[in-house]
Amino acid sequence: MLLQVLGTAAGGGLPQWNCACPGCAGARAHPHRRRRHASLAVRVADHRWYVVNAGPDLTDQIEASPALHPGPGLRETPVAGVVLTDAELDHTLGIARLREARAGVEVWATPPVRHALLNGLRLGDVLGPYTPLEWRELGPQPRLLGDAVEMSALPISAKRPRYATGLPPLSSPSSLSSPPPLPGPPGDAAPGDLSWVVALRLHEPATGARVVYAPALAAWPDALQKAVEDADCVLVDGTFWDDDEPVRTGISSRTATAMGHLPIDGPDGTARRLAGVRGRCLYTHLNNTNPLTDPGAAEHTRLAALGLEVAAERMVIEI
Ligand code: MLT
Ligand code: MN
Ligand code: ZN
Repeated sequence: MLLQVLGTAAGGGLPQWNCACPGCAGARAHPHRRRRHASLAVRVADHRWYVVNAGPDLTDQIEASPALHPGPGLRETPVAGVVLTDAELDHTLGIARLREARAGVEVWATPPVRHALLNGLRLGDVLGPYTPLEWRELGPQPRLLGDAVEMSALPISAKRPRYATGLPPLSSPSSLSSPPPLPGPPGDAAPGDLSWVVALRLHEPATGARVVYAPALAAWPDALQKAVEDADCVLVDGTFWDDDEPVRTGISSRTATAMGHLPIDGPDGTARRLAGVRGRCLYTHLNNTNPLTDPGAAEHTRLAALGLEVAAERMVIEI
């Protein structure tokens, strides 16, 4: 299986346009530290790729990746479609960047994610006059992506994007016409459908290669632990180094866990769970406050001692 990392940053990117934190300042001073919004391209056939999560940088990311360049036909593209792990803006705004698509945009999403995009972002109404969205349902049953790769979704959490906090429930027959209830606390995890955020499992039967891609982990269910142990390569949520980081750095009054991201370090951290795993493990979706955005940070040594890595921009992973 061939993977092309298109970006490795959390929402805002690195640097973030309005942020003067040490991570963002460092990326302005040292351009090789820059990171675009987290995204992964998966090759499913010769000259045919799916993009997992479409961030606002998507078309720049395509330009930076020769395998995704169009041709030989005038409007022939190897980008076959988009797969979504959640409905967050940093993973979905790029769909609008594909509005020039000739034959529509194929979008794989779980029912709540599709609901958020259609009824929260109103992406179907907005893009309809340009190009149709071709929806495909993402769920726990393996589905064939292209010729070679099976894909399934593992439910992780009911964390909705902030813009979808007040959306009426998916099942309500009047959900499209009734006024939405007052929104709750922004971005808070609420009880409900765990397919608002999923981990993606990819399997290539021809080679046996298995991959897990999970850039947003509010929880670590047993099924995820098993999937991670079975995988040859795991790319997971590395938003925050430790739980206190968002509070300590002044970007939020909530901890990492409360923001829907298990931290890397600490007793409930993901490093501890990944340390014994057989496959290659890489962190992605780094927030600009994360000390790992500085290549000289001591935290890199601590990860390396556990056999864990940080995904690099534009890296190619062959399994
Ligand atoms: C997240 O990763 O938690 C979201 O992208 C947050 C946001 O952008 O509001
Ligand atoms: Mn995000
Ligand atoms: Zn910053």
